[in-house]
Amino acid sequence: MKKYVLILGLLSYGIANAQTKIPADVEKLLQKNTCLACHNADKKVVGPAYKEVAKRNYTKDQIVELIYKPKPSNWPGYPPMAALPNVPRSEALKIATWITSLNKKK
Ligand code: HEC
Repeated sequence: MKKYVLILGLLSYGIANAQTKIPADVEKLLQKNTCLACHNADKKVVGPAYKEVAKRNYTKDQIVELIYKPKPSNWPGYPPMAALPNVPRSEALKIATWITSLNKKK
């Protein structure tokens, strides 16, 4: 019986661990700029998971531009994302840099 408890514990640890850990400074920016209302790092919410966005191999600058000027035609089946011109460029760049990093870690 004890063994099962241990295995279950390990399993749930593994599942919890499969989630992408968002660095605290990036998470703060995502929250402040309301991105997390529609995006999750790993899962589709209203918008695509950031991991899926990362697979498109955009450059940081391309991602910054897509925040200011989304191209809904890039994501058929999703509602269009509203342009977010009020996100400061330095913050957009930091978020974009993090998104590109998701592709390498897998
Ligand atoms: C109201 C919901 C909503 C909010 C808020 C939102 N997004 Fe989106 N986002 C979407 C949807 C829906 C899509 C897919 C359709 C599209 O691109 O228009 C998307 C697509 C994207 C893409 C992929 C663009 C492409 O063309 O490949 C990026 C990058 C992105 N969002 C980043 C952000 C960031 C960063 C923020 C916060 C500054 C943010 N989003 C806030 C809904 C949202």
